[in-house]
Amino acid sequence: KCANLDVIPVIDSTNQYLLDRVGTLPSGATCLAEYQQAGRGRRGRQWLSPFGSNLYLSMYWRLDAGMAAAMGLSLVVGVAIAEALESLGAEGVRVKWPNDIYLDDKKLAGILIEMTGQAGDAAHLVIGMGLNIKMPELEGADIGQAWTNLSQACDSLPERNTLAATLIKQLQQTLAQYEAIGLEGFIERWNRLDNFLDRPVKLLIGERVVEGIARGINGQGALLLETDEGITPYIGGEISLRGC
Ligand code: ATP
Ligand code: BTN
Repeated sequence: KCANLDVIPVIDSTNQYLLDRVGTLPSGATCLAEYQQAGRGRRGRQWLSPFGSNLYLSMYWRLDAGMAAAMGLSLVVGVAIAEALESLGAEGVRVKWPNDIYLDDKKLAGILIEMTGQAGDAAHLVIGMGLNIKMPELEGADIGQAWTNLSQACDSLPERNTLAATLIKQLQQTLAQYEAIGLEGFIERWNRLDNFLDRPVKLLIGERVVEGIARGINGQGALLLETDEGITPYIGGEISLRGC
């Protein structure tokens, strides 16, 4: 069955649009917008969403395995996006744990997964992605961290429709594959793309900062951090990773 694709020029947030329609949608249903008035990131942060120059895409997915499976899923989505961009000729695209896309140590795309559902029941996920394609410097806007555009990774930019179609297809395939085989099948793919593998990083965990060397991920999707005390797995939505 074909999932629906809603293309809406101006919207508050493509994630919100699908969240408002959970229950009426088949897995794979997608919303695309040209401009978001209230694009959002993790923990209430803002996602700058100027008109015309970027891609704002959200996809609904029903995960029968429930909410517990969602942590691994955020990693798998990063792999799907990075591989889709590579398949279109982009070079140097990397993933940052748990779910950003990087290029030249700068943020190229952000992923926001929001969900509803009862514990022990199927999870209803909305997977949102904001991808900078050729965003200009925005006057008065302070993004607060290094960012970049897909135009920096490609000799010639793919057509926007091709880009959207390729991302949608790759996401749908990858999500179905994750449901079938779990995270195990993705660890090598993740490690190949990992921006910080074997590099010094710090983890910001609330007020706490832990420094070490990033050593990839384990089968649960935890980040492995090597310190003088050995290798410790870190997992959970409240952790931010930064290069040193
Ligand atoms: P984390 O590492 O915990 O994910 P983060 O700083 O990447 O932290 P998010 O909430 O994931 O935070 O993303 C929102 C942040 O992304 C904003 O605070 C801003 O720094 C940055 N940002 C906002 N709009 C854009 C954009 N169009 N391109 C790149 N970065 C952006
Ligand atoms: C992040 O890095 O914090 C994630 C940013 C996610 C932005 C995308 S743009 C499409 C979708 N709609 C939103 O409001 N947010 C996500």
